Amino acid sequence: QVAAASGHTVVLVDQSDEILKKSTKGIEESLKRVTKKKFADKPEAGAEFIEKTLKNITTSTDAVAVVHSTDLVIEAIVENQEVKNELFKRLDKFAPEHTIFASNTSSLQITGLANSTTRQDRFGGLHFFNPVPMMKLVEVIKTPMTSQKTFESLVDFSKAVGKSPVSCKDTPGFIVNRLLVPYMMEAVRLFERGDASKEDIDVAMKLGAGYPMGPFELLDYVGLDTSKYIIDGWHSLEPNNPLFAPSPLLNKLVEEKKLGKKTGEGFYKYK
Ligand code: 3HC
Repeated sequence: QVAAASGHTVVLVDQSDEILKKSTKGIEESLKRVTKKKFADKPEAGAEFIEKTLKNITTSTDAVAVVHSTDLVIEAIVENQEVKNELFKRLDKFAPEHTIFASNTSSLQITGLANSTTRQDRFGGLHFFNPVPMMKLVEVIKTPMTSQKTFESLVDFSKAVGKSPVSCKDTPGFIVNRLLVPYMMEAVRLFERGDASKEDIDVAMKLGAGYPMGPFELLDYVGLDTSKYIIDGWHSLEPNNPLFAPSPLLNKLVEEKKLGKKTGEGFYKYK
């Protein structure tokens, strides 16, 4: 959405037409919200902006078939190293020489993903934040193998889509998640111990620390499955680090398929 809105030609790839239809609808809804503010007193210009943006997006269920015409691939699939590696390995065979591969991974090492391809110098991390149309930040990750040219292209692309890039070494969680995820897990542990209700913890962090959402609202927003993948991955890397300890409650909710806002229930229920 943000790439298309800033004039880039985008092919959105997912597993089924049904998912793509849902995604396109989500983009339309989001564009309406953005436009309402951006073109408050020019509704016609707003409608034109939406139409132009949507024209920049086509969809496909076949990544291999479309990768031959791309300059940049941004992967944002399930947070699983093997599945990501398999995709990158396949795309590497069909992508043009100059094409840069980037992963939007929240927690996996970019170096490990880059090693599944033959283009380690044209591989980096491009990490966006939910909701992407609103959050200004992008973390740009350079591995020891990423060329300076690739890094600069990723920084330039981030600026071209209207974001403010920061850079970080290829370390677990980069900057934001390395601070945010242990904080959210501490909130779950506080609740698990029965020290405070989740509602009070959320109110406390909003009114006492000025956060726009409390930790449980944010966990539901990000997705409990994604949060669990992140913490499980870090726990296997550093089993003795108490900040990375898994939570029985989070595990139980994920097992029950209560994944947060996207499934209608997580820590809270949604209509
Ligand atoms: N698309 C377009 N616009 C959107 C939107 C979307 N998906 N979601 C919200 N907005 C707009 C609304 O239209 C509204 O615009 P307005 O000011 O013109 O009315 C504005 O954002 C504010 O929205 P709301 O009034 O509905 O609600 P809030 O004031 O609570 O703001 C929020 C919503 C921007 C999501 C805010 O609550 C927030 O900043 N929350 C924290 C988000 C956060 O921490 N994100 C990082 C998560 S970590 C992550 O993503 C990393 C990953 O790896 C796990």
